[in-house]
Amino acid sequence: MDFTASSATLLNIKADSLILATGSQLENSAADLDKSLDGAISSLVKAGDFSGQAGESLVIHIPGSTGKRIILIGSEGANTVQRQIKVIEAGAAALLKTASSKAVWVGEGLTEDAEWEASMVARSVQAASYKYQAVPETSAKKPKPAKLKSVVYWTPKKSALTAAKNGLIYGASVGNGMNVARQLGNLPANICTPSYLASQAKALAKGQAKVTTSVLSEAEMKKLKMGSLLSVSAGSDQPAKLIVIKYQGTKASVKPTVLVGKAVTFDTGGISLKPGGGMDEMKYDMCGGASVIGVMNALIENQLPVNVVGIIPATENMPNGHATKPGDVVTSMSGQTIEILNTDAEGRLILCDALTYAARFKPDTVIDIATLTGAVIGALGKVTAGLLSNDDELADALLASGTKSGDRVWRMPLWEEYDELLKSNFADMANIGGPQAGTITAACFLARFAKTYKWAHLDVAGTAWVSGAQKGATGRPVPILMEYIRSKAN
Ligand code: BES
Ligand code: MN
Ligand code: ZN
Repeated sequence: MDFTASSATLLNIKADSLILATGSQLENSAADLDKSLDGAISSLVKAGDFSGQAGESLVIHIPGSTGKRIILIGSEGANTVQRQIKVIEAGAAALLKTASSKAVWVGEGLTEDAEWEASMVARSVQAASYKYQAVPETSAKKPKPAKLKSVVYWTPKKSALTAAKNGLIYGASVGNGMNVARQLGNLPANICTPSYLASQAKALAKGQAKVTTSVLSEAEMKKLKMGSLLSVSAGSDQPAKLIVIKYQGTKASVKPTVLVGKAVTFDTGGISLKPGGGMDEMKYDMCGGASVIGVMNALIENQLPVNVVGIIPATENMPNGHATKPGDVVTSMSGQTIEILNTDAEGRLILCDALTYAARFKPDTVIDIATLTGAVIGALGKVTAGLLSNDDELADALLASGTKSGDRVWRMPLWEEYDELLKSNFADMANIGGPQAGTITAACFLARFAKTYKWAHLDVAGTAWVSGAQKGATGRPVPILMEYIRSKAN
């Protein structure tokens, strides 16, 4: 997809569709356009085809022209970032449903921030054009490529052109990063194994001067004494991999942001086996790791001047004769011992060793991303991810990045009253804290391995994918992570 910015006379730009945000009162470009079309727009508004409310859209075919259309998107009541994003996403969805190949997006009527709006337009158009790509092993069919080839973001302000261009490049990279994460998430677990993720991470680095990928085998993890991580892969025929992707976009002395992404390519629960209903969705238990690969993809595309290290502990959680049993005690890389009371609380067991490993990169900040607990869905639903952090400034920065990107998070406490629930009679800690506050006790467990740096944990079990008829990965939390990383570059 090609994105450009322009402030030329609107009707002189050659395109086969034009997207316009407006309320029921037509103003500025909407009014001009209506006049040049002899009132075609206002008559439809009057007839009640279009109310102008946020989230609504209407495609108008221009009489006398072949295949040209105006896509109206309602902007009334769009007075929050969240609603403005909803308007833009409605426009992108309506556009992608048409056969348009070149669109002009009128950057007017919604916000004064052209850079932000342009970034959201590019991101939403990219995300709306995602189609699941079956791999040759599962299908011979290839999805048809989207008809849309280019989008011109039009702004009435010539002075905003540079900002708009920057926004387009950034937003497109975020949208593509989301799509990379979605594709990996949607792939079935018989294809998307730890080895497959490792090969994708290696492919990412190919020909990229700023990027290096290394993959640690189980033998190497054993040498590092990652007894906790290896206890999860023990019951699987697929070997675990520890994937490390380094993106160096600025001088080596700048301490990196380290992203640690949970990648359980399939979570059966292990010996603490999950019930059968809906278990297929546990192929999405690698979405944290997939979001790290999505971020790396976006950084490469955008060439941001930042240093980021991605660490992805990748494994299956399966029950075979070698599998870890409830009551088993293992020793983590940190030296702390863990009594595994429930083998289904496996995410924290792979993350804890990855968090210990993260310290060797002398991080400025470590953020882990994990589909960690069903409990976070009970607490926050599918709207927002859980945020837990040992640093208030970092938590505030992430809350702000969540709002700006529309990919929101909400903070929960890490108090010691919760941490005490992890007490074990047979080890330094148990891997579960009982039936209450499951998201918090899971994070308290992780916090014990993240004591030497600023750390935040995103529990994305509710936001990384949607269930039901629209089942599919969402690409979250790539937008908030990119927003946070970009805010550090400035
Ligand atoms: N991957 C799951 C969390 C999950 C469950 C995500 C449902 C999305 C939907 C995780 O490994 C898990 O099984 N967590 C357990 C923890 C419990 C055993 C303390 C859970 O949430 O039930
Ligand atoms: Mn589990
Ligand atoms: Zn899991």
